[in-house]
Amino acid sequence: MSDRNSTAARASDRAFLGTALHAPAPGRLEVLRDVIVLVGPDGAIDAIHPGASGDGMAAAARHRTAGTLRTLEPDQYLLPGMVDLHVHAPQWPQLGLALDEPLEVWLQKYTFPLEARYADLDFATAVYESLVDGLLANGTTTVMYYASIHLPATRALADICLRRSQRALIGRVSMDDPAQCPPYYRDASAASAEADTRAFIAYVQSLPGNRGLISPVITPRFIPSCTDGLLQRLGSLAQESGCHVQTHCSESDWQHRYVLERCGISDAAALESFGLLGRRTILAHGNFVGDDDVTRLVGAGAGIAHCPLSNVYFSDAVLPLRRLLDRGVHVGLGTDIAGGASPSILDNARQAVIASRLLESGVDAALERGQRRREASRIDALTAFWLATTSGGIALDLPIGLFRVGYQFDAMVVGNAAGGNLRLEAGDSPQQVLQKIVYNAGRSNISDVWVAGRRV
Ligand code: GUN
Ligand code: FE
Repeated sequence: MSDRNSTAARASDRAFLGTALHAPAPGRLEVLRDVIVLVGPDGAIDAIHPGASGDGMAAAARHRTAGTLRTLEPDQYLLPGMVDLHVHAPQWPQLGLALDEPLEVWLQKYTFPLEARYADLDFATAVYESLVDGLLANGTTTVMYYASIHLPATRALADICLRRSQRALIGRVSMDDPAQCPPYYRDASAASAEADTRAFIAYVQSLPGNRGLISPVITPRFIPSCTDGLLQRLGSLAQESGCHVQTHCSESDWQHRYVLERCGISDAAALESFGLLGRRTILAHGNFVGDDDVTRLVGAGAGIAHCPLSNVYFSDAVLPLRRLLDRGVHVGLGTDIAGGASPSILDNARQAVIASRLLESGVDAALERGQRRREASRIDALTAFWLATTSGGIALDLPIGLFRVGYQFDAMVVGNAAGGNLRLEAGDSPQQVLQKIVYNAGRSNISDVWVAGRRV
């Protein structure tokens, strides 16, 4: 694509001239036509000027002279980077495999044996390097990761994300309950799980050169994997530290019922009782949350990672997304690697539209129309794009996903590519451009990606 010298020059881009598209609200596209976006040394957007204004032309001239101006081609668009709220890093070698069993069998038969292998730091390093590169190439600039129970491999994931400049929220997975965790893959005790979680938090907080890119996440795998004692400890740690929290909630019939039986209350209610439901909590899936749970999520400001591809295989149902959005729940998208068989958030944005349409129409043709459909469930492509960017940023409580002064410059360039699936025409309206990108853009259409103003 470019030689070493020009790549080096581009790595220091600090001004971007072209048309940017973003979605400040669900279903609302804002077009920043022919603007110059100026990025400061901390990776935040300092200013956005019309390219033809006095300030814009002066900035362009200054950055052109300094060699720090990137000018987009007419068929290229600047878009916010994708936010992936749910990735299991150690499951990367399993992507596209093992989708034939229900969740509770899949975990024991395929997933725990694979994750146990991350005791081997060399194996972990090779896999994690490949994963981070793959996600960045797909335009994913922020990821919320589950690692494994192993502290050294989890530290390695943090090092790799920092070295490659991917914004990452990373959790060492906690799971100690012998009733659901095999002897070869579980924390020795609630106390040791808490101690390792604390050690990982301390590691990230003193990671040299971190500049806010990597954050630690308190990560009880899900209630079935954890004893009450561990959940209590991690809840207290969440209150004490203010760290993000991630776990799975009401993903499948089995999970939902397991928690009801063990705790006597719903998954979301139990998480709340342990102190694990807060403004920086991300619950994966949430397909079976009830009305009271939704009230709890809204009250806490917690978010849901909607994983529409994974849900096809493991959830037994379609997330009632529209209902959640209408009630004000924060929702973003997740690939759930390897529960979903694609590493691309754009693929999941498409699937979010498709799932919502299937929920609205219903799927069982043997039922009457009125019985099989759930009214007013659909979302459009633009709302899916908002979920993938702005709304993911809101869920994480981070200034990302929009081209706004003070927001981080996490961005990608999308355009036509030889042999690609996307064909943008000069006469396309911005709405049409965005629809085409959501439905058709692939990796080959993403030519450049920046995180915190740094080209990756
Ligand atoms: N619930 C607990 N662990 C997992 C996991 O690894 N993947 C999914 N999809 N659900 C889970
Ligand atoms: Fe998951």
